[in-house]
Amino acid sequence: MSAKVINITMNGLPMEVYEGMNVLEAARIMGIDIPTLCYDEGLSSYGACRLCIVEIGPQDRTKVVSSCTYRCEEGLEIRTHSKRVMDTRKMILELLVCSTPGSKTIQDLAAAHGVITARFKPEHEDCMLCGLCVRMCKEQMMATAIDFAGRGPDRRITTPFDEASALCRHCGGCMFICPACSSRCMGPDADTTLCSSCLNLSPSCVEVYDHQQCWMPPGCGTCIRPEGDYLPATGRISEVKTEA
Ligand code: FES
Repeated sequence: MSAKVINITMNGLPMEVYEGMNVLEAARIMGIDIPTLCYDEGLSSYGACRLCIVEIGPQDRTKVVSSCTYRCEEGLEIRTHSKRVMDTRKMILELLVCSTPGSKTIQDLAAAHGVITARFKPEHEDCMLCGLCVRMCKEQMMATAIDFAGRGPDRRITTPFDEASALCRHCGGCMFICPACSSRCMGPDADTTLCSSCLNLSPSCVEVYDHQQCWMPPGCGTCIRPEGDYLPATGRISEVKTEA
């Protein structure tokens, strides 16, 4: 049975899409660039980062939704770059860059949207809870070695009972897809540095999930400890010694 074709309007232009397609996919067919952080074509949509927001509905009754999770429906009116969308997206980027200042991916997105200062207190977290690693482990690696745990401020990603998981095959997929692990800020050598706070961060994921691989290029500076200790700058850390 072939999928039903429906009519929508994207930034004032009429277009036909398949029913059930999400708004982000429809925008990409039109060549419209919508930034994403927690979305990957090979994984299910999760809607965590809200970076892909668009405005939908008629002019007098609009609402903002995440395009990666919102399905196209007959007659849907979508605006991808309205003032409301751009202002909200910039604020989201400010929040993201403050929560995870060590992520080069987020810093680049912030810079591309003209975010050069942030009004919020930096948290220096290494994880923005986008859930890409969890979905990668479950849906692509069929392992389910990690998942969300805790609620509210205690929410985090970990292994069952916070212990080394027998299900983990050490494939490195979680770190490969992580916007914080896969692309860390290069500190003062970065092209678009907002701050250099990242130099004070330790790669917590490497410490928690030891025997994993680091995907950073050699000498990235990420592994500089406050006391001046260096982790092996080989680009592939197969074993990390932690202090007793
Ligand atoms: S990419 Fe859509 S919510 Fe993160």
